[in-house]
Amino acid sequence: MQNISDKEKKTLGEINRKLTNLIITLTLFMGGMWLVLYPPIFLQDQTTIIQVDSDIIEKGIHVASGLIAAEGFELVQQNCGGCHSYKLVTQNKNTRDGWLETIRWMQETQKLWDLGENETQLLDYLAENYGPEETGRRKQLEIAEWYELE
Ligand code: HEC
Repeated sequence: MQNISDKEKKTLGEINRKLTNLIITLTLFMGGMWLVLYPPIFLQDQTTIIQVDSDIIEKGIHVASGLIAAEGFELVQQNCGGCHSYKLVTQNKNTRDGWLETIRWMQETQKLWDLGENETQLLDYLAENYGPEETGRRKQLEIAEWYELE
């Protein structure tokens, strides 16, 4: 065994303490950085996440509702999502009159409220975006000449 003087012992003790402090500080710091970079769910601000999500529009489709993000789709969001899924809207196709009929039917039997001035705009949107398929579909083949099968 080497002989260590009291003074040297004291210096070594101090170095030891300082190293320990340094390690503790570093550990706490890295832990803090980890929390900042990867906050657990309960520390995240959920409202902002939802708000950002609900505004996303991809390829003309409003992602949260699945509605076509054309003029008037906010009105559909405000009036048509409360009782049922937007899928009832997006999976339907109807003429303007057909949509009006559906609305009247919901008003008479399902407690849908009076849509007031918004009704015209809603019908515009629905007929335009969820109308019977005519536009965008391949035209019927025109057959110029019939021939008899033998
Ligand atoms: C007050 C509640 C309520 C609101 C608001 C509402 N609906 Fe409905 N709607 C209903 C109910 C109830 C049904 C029947 C649900 C079912 O069959 O599951 C329905 C059914 C439908 C259907 C299917 C109809 C069918 O023939 O099967 C469509 C399309 C529809 N709603 C569109 C809309 C549109 C567009 C709006 C906004 C203008 C809207 N709804 C707002 C209650 C509502």
